[in-house]
Amino acid sequence: METTPLQFANNTPLSLSPNFILPEENRPILSEVFSSASIPTIDLNNHDIDDLVSKISQACEKYGFFQIINHGVPKELCQRVLAVLTEFFQLPPEERAQFLTTDHSKLVKVFNYYQKVEGQGEVLMWGETFTHPWHPTEDFTHFLPKNPPQYREVFTEYAREIGALMDRLLSLMSQGLGLQKDCLKRKIGERPAIYTQANYYPPCPDPELTMGLPAHNDISALVVLLQMEGVCGLQVVIDGKWVPVEPVPDAFVVNVADQMQVLSNGRYRSVLHRAVTNKRLARLSLPMFYAPNNDTVIGPIEDLIDEVHPPMYRNYSYKEYMDEFYRQEGARRRVKEAFELQH
Ligand code: OGA
Ligand code: NI
Repeated sequence: METTPLQFANNTPLSLSPNFILPEENRPILSEVFSSASIPTIDLNNHDIDDLVSKISQACEKYGFFQIINHGVPKELCQRVLAVLTEFFQLPPEERAQFLTTDHSKLVKVFNYYQKVEGQGEVLMWGETFTHPWHPTEDFTHFLPKNPPQYREVFTEYAREIGALMDRLLSLMSQGLGLQKDCLKRKIGERPAIYTQANYYPPCPDPELTMGLPAHNDISALVVLLQMEGVCGLQVVIDGKWVPVEPVPDAFVVNVADQMQVLSNGRYRSVLHRAVTNKRLARLSLPMFYAPNNDTVIGPIEDLIDEVHPPMYRNYSYKEYMDEFYRQEGARRRVKEAFELQH
């Protein structure tokens, strides 16, 4: 897929100006990234349900990340959604600039990540992000851009598929915890906040000096990410080391996010990850997030608490969690930690 580097919507020139250059201690140190370990790839077309549940729960416990193949989402649809997003990021910058905002309450927006660095202020990340809500069954087209013209149709079809896939994953993950199939979905609650965040990383003259997305944990409950084939960028921490998540053909990357870690009372792990840039090629990633709504109360599921496993987190509303998240803006956020209980 051709992805010519264009201008960011915010008109920052695509050259490695000091705006983008991280201080040494914040740089990715790519020479220390090894593919010695990797997250598992799980075949969802497995009729031995106990085996499938156990593979998924082990992956959630050990890595917090896994890839899935034979997931049932048509390849051609995944290609179409990546193509329409590529087109979106290739629109003239002024066309995307209509969505530029730093206002958190806006549901549809284009923005650039940054890190706050002492003495240097905000250092921009080498990427642009477009976020908007989606829904597997309700009409959400009014949130979607009119341009490219096929965006609405393609994304609606994709949302339906990812919604069904997420239901299946939540059911398998619930069973992995020894819970009723619908337990996690019920706990994440009514009217979930579901949104996507397409990330576009243009080729970067020196990936050692900057980052596409700083190290973070996802704050939602569950994430299903589609990434372009043939371009690496996503990295996760395994045993304290950064490890690349190499694109597997026709796979999705699935990860446990913070709310799932809390609900599972720490059994499933929401793991630190980041995106680095690529010298030669542009990269596109499309995570689909599934989160509780603001009023939902989240806390460890009662069935997972006993004398040996006391609650690791206090109960809170998702609004409280989000407020803490925004309070830590620009820093290496440690949001989960703010809700931990000491024993
Ligand atoms: C994210 C994320 C990784 C990537 O958007 O939360 O982790 O590969 N993206 O772009
Ligand atoms: Ni993430």
